[in-house]
Amino acid sequence: METKYWDSYNNADEQQLAIQQAAKLLQQGEAVAFPTETVYGLGANATDEQAVNKIFNAKGRPQDNPLITHVASKSQIAELVTDWPDYVDKLMELYTPGPITFVLPSNGRCAPNVTAGLNTVGVRIPSHPIAQQLLTACGLPIAAPSANISGKPSPTTALHVWEDLNGKIAGILDGGPTGVGLESTVIDCTNSIPIILRPGGITKEQIEQAAGSVMVDPGLAVKTEKPKAPGMKYRHYSPEVPLWIVNGGKQNIKQTIDQLQAEGKRVGLMGTAQMIDGIHAHSTISLGETIEQVATNLYDALRTFKREDVDVIVCQSFSERGIGQAVMNRLTKAASNHIHV
Ligand code: TXA
Ligand code: MG
Repeated sequence: METKYWDSYNNADEQQLAIQQAAKLLQQGEAVAFPTETVYGLGANATDEQAVNKIFNAKGRPQDNPLITHVASKSQIAELVTDWPDYVDKLMELYTPGPITFVLPSNGRCAPNVTAGLNTVGVRIPSHPIAQQLLTACGLPIAAPSANISGKPSPTTALHVWEDLNGKIAGILDGGPTGVGLESTVIDCTNSIPIILRPGGITKEQIEQAAGSVMVDPGLAVKTEKPKAPGMKYRHYSPEVPLWIVNGGKQNIKQTIDQLQAEGKRVGLMGTAQMIDGIHAHSTISLGETIEQVATNLYDALRTFKREDVDVIVCQSFSERGIGQAVMNRLTKAASNHIHV
């Protein structure tokens, strides 16, 4: 299939036209990629089982991994779920639109393949202006996982989407690079205390502040436990090259690289500008200076290393404060939970 590519994000009039065309394709039951503030999503009408199937086929996604449904407003969330606890109102007031997904009891309006047969549905209101305009223009709840081939890092540019899905979907709306760079926080809101199923753009500290208390799914910490978010059991974000996370700072990183190079390996090194300064490797990528910049740049760095043909990637570890929790979650998954001390 020919994939339409709208690259009009710096021309306001053309942009409006592109959004209208993309909305029309969504109404016609096609799958279209669009930017959100976290990563690019691959959207389809969440109430149309056949349309949603196009997402699973294009991505090669396992059918038992449910999708997040995106809507433009709180009232549209109410149309998809039965009810929610009071703390959800507080969280919504503070953090929506934004990078947070609420898992709530489904009223069955979303197609069964969106929820993978569960009696809950994950819903979120993205804050990206193009996502907002697209959702308003089509007037539909839109199921949208990250717009990557299953198992690859999530796309943070339209080019990443093109690399993975050109020829497999109806269109790609280019909105420039996304901001947060990691996916939304997924929280289970079916109990009296919210449970973080996937750390993301809204931090544990922020949720605690609004809801009073918060729990973290034990499956996140211990790999052998069965995680509650069905997607967490798959090997995600894989750079397809082994990734070593090295604790203990510059000296340890240097030693690890020396050892790998002595084995004849080409090493790709990534970390903050401060950390990688003065360390030599086959190829080096600075992730920026702050943990927010690290989050923004991480997935692009993983994709770049794959192109550069390194044998192993070495990355420092980060403090789990703030969005550092999401950064470490994605890194440890990419590293299959191997941290080198
Ligand atoms: O930032 C994001 O959330 C991006 C953008 C495009 O919005 N979307 C995204 O979707 O990351 P996806 O499909 O790649 O990840 C959805 C996650 C998976 O871990 C899935 O298992 C979980 O949300 N999830 C969805 N519905 C759920 C449900 N009813 N119960 C538990 N987990 C659910
Ligand atoms: Mg994904």
